[in-house]
Amino acid sequence: MTQRPCLALVLAAGQGTRMKSRLPKVLHEIAGRPMLAHVLDAAAQCGIGHQAVVVAPGVEGVEAAAKRVSPATAIFIQEKQLGTAHAVLAARPAFETFAGDVIILYGDTPLITPQTIGRLRSHLGEAGAAVLGFTASDPSGYGRLIMHGGELFAIREHKDASEAEHAITFCNSGVMAFRAGVLLPLLQRIGNGNAKREHYLPDAVALARADGIPITALSCPETEVLGVNDRAQLARAEAVMQDRLRERAMANGATLIAPQTVTFSFDTRLGEDVIVEPNVFFGPKVTVERGAHIKAFCHIEGARIGPGAIIGPFARLRPGAAIGADARVGNFVEIKKASIEAGAKVNHLTYIGDARVGKGANVGAGTITCNYDGFSKHFTDIGANAFIGSNSALVAPVKIGDGAYVGSGSVVTKDVEDNALALSRAPQKHYPEWAARIRARRGRNGKEEPAGGGS
Ligand code: UD1
Ligand code: MG
Repeated sequence: MTQRPCLALVLAAGQGTRMKSRLPKVLHEIAGRPMLAHVLDAAAQCGIGHQAVVVAPGVEGVEAAAKRVSPATAIFIQEKQLGTAHAVLAARPAFETFAGDVIILYGDTPLITPQTIGRLRSHLGEAGAAVLGFTASDPSGYGRLIMHGGELFAIREHKDASEAEHAITFCNSGVMAFRAGVLLPLLQRIGNGNAKREHYLPDAVALARADGIPITALSCPETEVLGVNDRAQLARAEAVMQDRLRERAMANGATLIAPQTVTFSFDTRLGEDVIVEPNVFFGPKVTVERGAHIKAFCHIEGARIGPGAIIGPFARLRPGAAIGADARVGNFVEIKKASIEAGAKVNHLTYIGDARVGKGANVGAGTITCNYDGFSKHFTDIGANAFIGSNSALVAPVKIGDGAYVGSGSVVTKDVEDNALALSRAPQKHYPEWAARIRARRGRNGKEEPAGGGS
C-alpha cells in the first residue's frame, strides 16, 4: 500500500425509492448498524484517515450516523441526483487540493472489507485510477469492464452496452480509486450523453485512457459488492454479514452449536470457550467473557456477561445488565440496568431492573423488583448472600441487607437489616376439620345435599 494520505468518499445521495421507507436507505441496518457506518468503518480499519459522505438534501440522521464512526467526516449535499460523477463533484472541496488518493465507495454496498479496500489502494500504486471489478453471476444492470489484453479500456453501462458487451460478466462494483490530482479534470469532462442522461463516474475510465493515464482493474468476490436497493437485498446482505460474524466468533474460540440460528451484532464480543446454544439473538453492545454458557432462546443486548456465567434458556438481558462471574440467570428472567454479582442466582420467572444483586445472593422464583412508580425509576439493593423467597415484590427504593432473608410472597417496602428475616404476608390460619365438615355437607358429587338428607 502507498504511504500517500487517502480520502474515502462515500456516495449516499441515491433516492432509495425501492426500499419503500421513510428512513434514508443508507441508515437501514445490517447486524445492528447502519449500512453507511459499515462502509466508513471498513475504510477507517484499513487506515484511511479522511472521510466524506455525499447525501441528498433534506435527509435526516445521515450526518449523525457518519460522525458516530468518524467524528471528522465531512458531509456534502448533492442538490440533484444527476449521476455518480456529479455526486463526486458535489464533494469537490474535499479533494481538489488534496495531495493523496481518493477512494469512491457506496453507502448501499456495506459488505466491502478493509482487506479489499487495502488491496485496491495497493493496486492503484503509481497508476492514475484503479477499478474494483467482480464476476457477476447475473451481470444485467451492472456496468461492464471492457478489457483488452488484460488492460481496462472503458466501462459500459448496461443500458448503453451492445449485444456483444452484454455477454461480459466482469462488472464494475462501483468502487474506484483515483489519484486526487487526476480526478477533478476527468470529472469536469464527463457529460451525460447516454441512455440515462446521467453523468457517469465510470466514464472517467475511457477519458483517462485517452489521456494516457495508467488505469488498472482488480477483482473481488461478488458478495463483497452486493448492492442493497430493496428489502430482499437487505436481507441477503444481512445473511452474508451474519455468516462472517459467526465465523469470527468461532475463529475466536466460541462454540456455536447451530451457527445458522445465532444472530450477532456487528460488535458482539465472545471470549474463548463460550458456548452458545441454538436460537440466541445478540443486539448491540454485548460482551461475553471466557467460558460463559448461553443456553437456547436468549435475547441479549447492551449486556456484559462475566466468565463462567450461565444464561437461559429463555432469558432476556436488556441494556445495562452486568452478570458477574459464575452467576446464573435462568429461564423467563428479565434483567435490565442491574448487576448480578459473582455467583448470585436468579433462576426462574423474575424481573430485576435498576438493581444490584450482591455476591452469592439467591433470588427465588417469581421475584419482582418494582422499580417504577409511574413517574420515575428507583433502585433495589440486594446484599451479598441474601435470600429472597419466591414470589416476593421488592418495592423500590429499598435495600435488603447482606445475608438477610425475605419470606416467600412478601411485599417489601422498607429496608431490611443485615441477616434479618423480613416477612410481610398475611399470617397463615388453620381451621381444624373444616374440610371434613364441608365434604359431609356437600355430597360426593359436590352438589349441596337437600336439607334433612334425602336419598
Ligand atoms: C453503478 C455504476 C455501475 C456499477 C453499479 C454497481 C454508474 C453510472 N454506474 O450503477 O457501473 O456496475 O453501480 O452497483 O456509476 N448516487 C448518488 N448520486 C447520484 C447517483 C447515485 O449519490 O446522483 C449514489 C447512490 O446512492 C449509490 C451509488 O451512487 O450509492 C450508485 O448509484 P446507482 O444509481 O445505484 O448506480 P447503478 O445504476 O447501480
Ligand atoms: Mg445501484
